[in-house]
Formats: sequence, C-alpha cells, structure tokens
Amino acid sequence: MAIAFESLYSDIAGRIGKLTVGKKTIRTPALLPVINPHLQLVTPKEMASMGVEALITNAYIFSQSRQFRERALAEGLHSVLDFSGVIMTDSGSFQLSVYGEVSITNTETLSFQRDIGSDIWVPLDIPTSPTADRDTTARDLAITLQRLAEAKEVFGPDAPLAGPVQGGTFEDLREKSAREVMDLGFPFCPVGAVVPLMESYRYRDLVRVVMASKRALSPSACVHLFGAGHPSMFALATAMGCDLFDSAAYALYAKDGRYLTAHGSYRIEDLVDLPCACSVCRSHSAEELRAAPDRERLLALHNLYVTLAEISRVRQAIVDGTLWELVDERCRSHPRLLDGYRELLSHAPTLAGHDRVSKRRFFYRGDESCLRTEVIRYQQQLARLPLGQKVLVVLDGKPSEGYDDTLFFRPPFGPYPVELKETFPIGPCEIPEWDAAMVRKGCQGIRILADTHPGSRIVLACSSRWEGIVRQELSGMEITDDEV
Ligand code: GUN
Ligand code: ZN
Repeated sequence: MAIAFESLYSDIAGRIGKLTVGKKTIRTPALLPVINPHLQLVTPKEMASMGVEALITNAYIFSQSRQFRERALAEGLHSVLDFSGVIMTDSGSFQLSVYGEVSITNTETLSFQRDIGSDIWVPLDIPTSPTADRDTTARDLAITLQRLAEAKEVFGPDAPLAGPVQGGTFEDLREKSAREVMDLGFPFCPVGAVVPLMESYRYRDLVRVVMASKRALSPSACVHLFGAGHPSMFALATAMGCDLFDSAAYALYAKDGRYLTAHGSYRIEDLVDLPCACSVCRSHSAEELRAAPDRERLLALHNLYVTLAEISRVRQAIVDGTLWELVDERCRSHPRLLDGYRELLSHAPTLAGHDRVSKRRFFYRGDESCLRTEVIRYQQQLARLPLGQKVLVVLDGKPSEGYDDTLFFRPPFGPYPVELKETFPIGPCEIPEWDAAMVRKGCQGIRILADTHPGSRIVLACSSRWEGIVRQELSGMEITDDEV
C-alpha cells in the first residue's frame, strides 16, 4: 500500500519521476483532473483514453451524497467512477476553507477514504487563508500537524497518506511544517492553501511559499501543488520541484465560457479562430463552438487537452534540459507570472546546487537569462581552473603571444579555456549579438577568476566597443594595449 517516489531525470529542481502507490505507478509531472461525481463534463473513462493516469475526487462529497455514499462503500470508488488508475481523495478541507466547518472528523474522513478504496488519502488539514495573521496561522498549523500525527498513529506507517504542508504566507512556518511532515514520515506532500494566491495572481508569494516548503522537504518526497491547474504556471511550479497538479480549472473555466491556452485564457466570445491542435478545435470553427448545444463539454475537453499537452511539454523540457527556456516563455504571458519567475531566479544560487551538469542547449532570452543556475554553476567552477602566472582573457579580439594561459570569453558565462569550447554550457549556448547585460555578467566571471587565482596576473584584451563596460565592471584590472 505504501507510497514511493523515484526521480528519473531532472532539470533545475524539476524532475520526471515515477510515483508508485501500492501496485500502481504513474509518471510525473502529472495532472490529476478533479472529478465531481455529480457533474462529469468529461468522464474518467474518457480521461483515461486521453492519457490521464490519476485523478482526484472529493471524499467529503461522496460521504455526504445520498446517491453515491453507499455505492462507493459497497462497490469501491474505482468501480463507481469506472477508472482503474490512481484515485486520490481529498478530505473535506477545501469545504472547510470555503464554508468554515465540515461535519466530519479527521479519523472519520480517513476511515471513509480507506473504506471506499481510495489510493491516496488526505487528512483533514486546515488551509489557512493568506490573509490570516501569524498567530492564527500558527494555531491552525499546530492542529494540522496534530491531525497528521494522529493519521500516522491510527492508520500505520504504510498507509497511503498525504501529508499537506500548511503555514500560510509565513516562510518560517512553511519550513517548520515541511520539516515536521518529513519527521512524521510522509513521502507524499501536497503544498496547501495556495489557491487564493493563484486566484489573485500572487505568483511571487506562491514561489516564496513553495520554495520555503521545499527547503525542508526531502528531495525524495513527491510534491503536489494543491489546486494548481492553469497550464501557464506548470513550468514555473515544476522548476521549483512540484510533481503533481490537480485542478478543476478545465471544468470551471468551461462553465464560465473560457478557453484555456498555455499562455492564458480567452473568453469564447472573443475568439475569431481556435488556436489549438486538439480534435475539438480542428472539427469546429470558433462560431460553431460558441453555438454548440454541448459547448460546455466541448470547452472542458479542449481545456483538458491543452492542460495535458502542457504537462507533456514540461516533461520533454526536463529531458532536454530546456526547462528554464520554457519557464521564461510561459512567464512572459502575464506580468504577475514574470514576478514569480523573477522571484524564482532570486533563488537560483540555491537551485544551482540541484541543477544538472549538462543540458542539450542554453538559449539566451534576455537579461533574466543572466541569472540562471547554469551561469552561477559555471562561474563557481572557475575557481577550480588551473592557471599559470600570466593569463590573457580575450573578450573580443585576437590572442597574442607571451602568456602562460589564454582564455576566451563567452557571455553571460565569462572566461573559458579552449578545452571547454565544445562542452556545456559554453558550446551549446546560443546567444544573440552581445548586449550590455550579458557582457556585465560575463565580467563577473572574470572577477571571480581573478579573486580565486591571486597568484595569477590577469590581463584583458577587449575592443573599444566593450571597453567602457569592462572598465566599470572590472575596475583596477589590466587591459592590454595590444591591437585587438
Ligand atoms: N485543495 C486546495 N487546497 C487545499 C488544501 O490546502 N488542503 C486540502 N486538503 N485540499 C486542498
Ligand atoms: Zn483545442
């Protein structure tokens, strides 16, 4: 019954992994569509045919339903939903956060989730509002942690339990929460209470909260971002190390006449054409989709297709090592996502420690690219470069004689010896015409080289085009007069 997670490939802190629950295994990152048994715009069986390996439904709705409660207890959830993949059940916590109370206890909901045959059970955690003050948040967190301990005690160490991380917007409380969830032995950790942050586009706070939680979570924990379903933020969330998403967005947006894309959503009234390759969009014009009697279902299908396609794109980016490029592209579709991206880049020194050594390529996409993990990693490694006493760094121009070592220059990384010319990141990096930001960043690499090699005399060769910036960034360093 136990839950196990294995990471197969990684990029930044994102990973492609295998989540095993009992005898079932799913690939991650994965989207778990939310199923409401009373309102199935797309059935679980259709979802399975679209490649969905896991879904999530609400145990509280089942437990309160005259129509479904007894059937679920008698036949099991998989039979009622006609789905043989992984089914995760949420407790009643979401209702708790919306309505303030639920008529069920922690052990009652967990027993019910067990009895209907759910694959992953969620305790009755408290999703504290981001507007709550610190005392309230800390009090809620203490109750959540007590319920998680109770769940482990009552149902045993191998029960397929999720351990939600709470703590509101307080980074230290998130960290404490994550540490205790680890100490209690939960291998599967949803980060909770982030829906209000995403609904109000507070992506910077979302990144802070997730990064704080991740600081204390073991890399072997599978991380679920509770309620994240808009495809434009999957790349960003995956880069932080989130493995699972769940969302009712595909259905909620459809109900509202909204058409999802990986760059944002459109009101169906505003579309003159359907910019998507899915079967719905290829077999309907925008006008036909608007007028279709089953428009809500068609929209839900399209929304689900694009959401699943974005998960596939994120997986491919991880294998290729191009997740930063995808994050950059997606986060430029909304200024508040750009805030989240910039916040993530501010954590790059930490992320650099997790990032992999070699990737397919590095595409420079503007100033933000200078802050990427690969640049930090490369510049850190400059300290280990063996150098003679007299070293020439050729920024742009020709090398000259009389030096023990000659290094070349590739912005935004900095100096490199010819042996590294073809290796990552120097070789596979694609940059446009040099700009000031990348040259400045490359100069920081030269500065690191100089600081870590006090026994070497470093001389720079650069053209008049970049001399101004080089003098600003590397004041005090020697620039050769030789013709370059
Ligand atoms: N769904 C969205 N957010 C949450 C959360 O914080 N906890 C639980 N249990 N479900 C959620
Ligand atoms: Zn479509």
